[in-house]
Parts: sequence; structure tokens; C-alpha cells
Amino acid sequence: MATATKSTTKTTKPKIASAKSAAEKPATKSAKKPTTTAPKTVKTVEKAEEKKKILFVASESTPFIATGGLAEVIGSLSTALAATGKFDVRVVIPLFSDIKKEYRDKFNYLGNLYVHLAWRNQYCGIFSYEKDGVTYYFIDNEFYFKRPGCYGYYDDGERFAFFSKSVLEIMPFLNFYPDVMHCHDWQAALAAIYLKTNYCFRPEYQFIRALFTIHNIEYQGQYSLDLLGDLFDIYGTYQYLVEYNNSINLMKGAIECCERFSTVSPRYAQEIKDPYFAHGLDPIIRKNEFKLTGILNGIDDIGYNCELDSHMFANYTPKDFSNKAVCKRELQKMLGLPQKSETPIIALISRLVSHKGLDLVTNVIEDLLQDDVQVVILGTGDAHFEGFFGDLAYRYSDKMSANIQFNGDLARKIYSGADIFLMPSKSEPCGLSQMIACRYGTVPIVRETGGLYDSIKPLENGYTFSNYNAHDMLYVIREAVSAYKNKAEWAKLMYRAATTDFSWSHSAKDYEALYYDMLK
Ligand code: GLC
Repeated sequence: MATATKSTTKTTKPKIASAKSAAEKPATKSAKKPTTTAPKTVKTVEKAEEKKKILFVASESTPFIATGGLAEVIGSLSTALAATGKFDVRVVIPLFSDIKKEYRDKFNYLGNLYVHLAWRNQYCGIFSYEKDGVTYYFIDNEFYFKRPGCYGYYDDGERFAFFSKSVLEIMPFLNFYPDVMHCHDWQAALAAIYLKTNYCFRPEYQFIRALFTIHNIEYQGQYSLDLLGDLFDIYGTYQYLVEYNNSINLMKGAIECCERFSTVSPRYAQEIKDPYFAHGLDPIIRKNEFKLTGILNGIDDIGYNCELDSHMFANYTPKDFSNKAVCKRELQKMLGLPQKSETPIIALISRLVSHKGLDLVTNVIEDLLQDDVQVVILGTGDAHFEGFFGDLAYRYSDKMSANIQFNGDLARKIYSGADIFLMPSKSEPCGLSQMIACRYGTVPIVRETGGLYDSIKPLENGYTFSNYNAHDMLYVIREAVSAYKNKAEWAKLMYRAATTDFSWSHSAKDYEALYYDMLK
């Protein structure tokens, strides 16, 4: 087993030669070995060959670049799958210029090729890096990716079309044809579409299965139909696959083209059949329901660990939360709030946009601030919410702190220093923050939707409410605040929250089963 892992690691070393000949190295090695060790080596080769090849296609991944939960899932799920020893997992993302320099400097340049996209012929450099058993590839093209941030440009459609086409074009160069190409969100949708409308007719690509995961159905990649051939390089005969409501809809195209598609929680898989949640795609979801699965995300439970997290003011354990008081006091000091140990801190760490439930919060927060509570907000988003919370923090400076910024260090200080974590989303495909809060013994209050419903059970590890109603939410917050006063019971609740298993161990098994099912 140890030998098997070692030899596989060797074959995936990011040098051009080894990357080009994945299966060659162990064979050459065995030929040189004396006969006595031959059977062992043969076994090793078989083991390595048994590994199913999985290629994640996504726009972002931790630890390199992250704008949200998608990146965390790509980084941590790929690592968890590789750790099972059953998969050769590789990930491909664009080489955005914002990728952290500490990593960028270590990337290996593998080579370059040119990618056709309709009348364009674009440079595509390939870099690689290995981490925790996963090989990452980065697609380089400065015209498309040397810009601040990841998204929001007028030519995003073209940028991700180039990226998706490149994913298929680099396969012969790497001599890596995955068993499952696992595409995430609309930015990678075209990889599944190109596979089924073009590449699968070539022998090397014919057995690749496509899995498409929806992390958020709100963002579908919608473009004018005029761009079908000229920009997306899709023949008119395939228009019917991507056309939806007189536009190109890339998410719809991927759902039609893939063998299977999934959502990031079981509940969300049910919800998106309903127009309330589907942003117009519900007829397509219902039509393709037979190939839909919902698998709840996990989190990186080593990265989010109250015993080890170096960002915290003091560490503690689920068995002994006494240092949480230190975290709370220091947080209050840092944010300029009165250092009251008995006043519960209610935290909200979120993108400040409407579907995160902020309409509910803005409606009743002034009522809540009349109670003996402190409220801490962290996040950026719509100017109207940023302004609202900023103003409120000014008026209630002894009870509220609004931090209009994206700050990972402060986030962890809040997760650990707060008592209650509020996440009242209108819809939530999965949500990671409620799980992270639990890991720090901070009790979540969530609305029963999507992954919030699947991960938080009332009184077991948090509080929930079902209607999208501000006063229902306020009622439950007050219930939690009053329960907080009962120290013994609250400590038990904190313990149950902190010890809920949100690791990838269950969900990675579900993906494993899904991949094997697809490969039958
Ligand atoms: C998206 C969803 C979020 C989910 C994340 C990772 O950001 O909005 O609910 O947790 O993707 O799958």
C-alpha cells in the first residue's frame, strides 16, 4: 500500500516528461528491479492503474484563490478524495493574476499550446503544482486572466469558454483523460458541453463521463444567441442543447449534456425543482431529475479547528470552552464593544446581499438591539446593506460593530469569540459558515433551507426557523438568547455543535459512490 502511494505520487510529479507519461514510470522501474521484487512491483502497478481518474474543472480553489465557498469545496473535497487512495485527483483552474504569490512562485511550467475558439487562436500556458496528493493545473493566458479579481468583466463568457476549451485541449498534452470530468458551476459548464458536442467523437475522449455540480443556481451564464458560433464555438445543430428562453444558458447546457448532475446538499436538490428556488431553471431540473443527486458539502475540519487555529486569541476544546471567554473579551476589546461576559454576541459573517436573509435582519435588528445583546457583522456586498449596517453601528456603538470588509483573520476571531451565529438565508445551496461556527462552539441560528436544513437540527446543534419572516427569526433569536442564560444547558449545546461531524468523511464516500455509479 505504501509502495503504491509512493509510485503514484511519482508519476504525477509536475515535470513535463513525467506528466506526459503517467503510466510509464512504474513499468520502467519494475523492469530494472531484480526478479525477487517483481511480483510486488507488478501489484503496485495494478493498484495505481485501478485508481479512477477524476478531473475537477472549476474557476477557483483554495489555497490558491478564493472568492467564496466554491473554492473551499474544490480544495477540500479534492484532497479528501485523493486521501481515500482510490482516485487520481487533479484540478484545473485559470491562472488568475490574483493567485497568491507564495504559491505562484512554486508552480512548474509544463509547456504551452494554442487553443482554437471559433476564429480565435489563443495561447494556453500550462502550469502545475502538487499539494496533499492532488495535482493542480493552471491555465495561463494573460489577455483573459491577468486582471484583478476573478469575475465581473464584459467578456466573462469568452474567458470561461477559452478556459473550458483549454481543459479539453490539454488532455492529450498531459496524456491524462479522466474517467470523470467533474465540472463546477457555470464557469466550467462549457467543458461538459464541448465534451458532448465535439470531443467525445474522438477515441481518447469517448469514455470520459461528465458530472456537473451546481453550487448556486442563481448564476447560470446567460448570453445572447448571436454568440453561439462566433464566441462559444458551438455548431448550430447543437443550439437546442444550450438554448433557453431565447438565450444561451450555459448551466442549462451542462445539465443537458452531463451524465449526472448534483447539488451541494440533498435539500437543495429538491428545492430547485420548485420555481421559488430555481431562478427559472425548474423545468430543466424536473426534466433531468433522473440524473440529479444532492450531496452535502463538508468542511476542512483541520483548517477550522478551535484547538489549533492560530488566528484565535486563545485556543480551547469542545471539552473545555473556558478560553472562549478570553476570545470573547479580546474580540469585544478589538471591536470597541463593552467587555461584558454575560451579554451574548450574535455574529453575522456573510456577503451582504439580499438572498442571505438580510432583508429580515434589517427589519428587526433595531428591536433586537433593545435587548441585552451585542451584534457583530462582517462582510461586503450591496451598498445599501453596507450603508445600513454602518449607520446602525454608529448609532448603537456600544452594542454593535459593523466591519464592512473581507477579512479571514477577523472572521476566525469572530467565529471563536461570538456566542450565536446568525444565518437566515432565503436560499442556501449548502452554506459553510454555519458548520464553521459549530466547529468553534458558536451556536448557529439558521433558516430551514438547502444545506442549512440538512446540517443544523433544532436544539441538537443549533436553532432553526422555517418561514422567511423577520419576526419568526426574531422570536428564535430571543429563544436562543434566553437559553444562553442557562449556562449548564448552553454548554451542552455548544459541545454538541462543536462535535457534529462536518468532515468530508461521509460526503466524500457519497461522491465516491456517485463516480463508481457513473462508471458502471
Ligand atoms: C455557493 C453557495 C453556498 C455553498 C458554496 C459551496 O457559494 O452559495 O451555499 O456552500 O457554493 O458549495
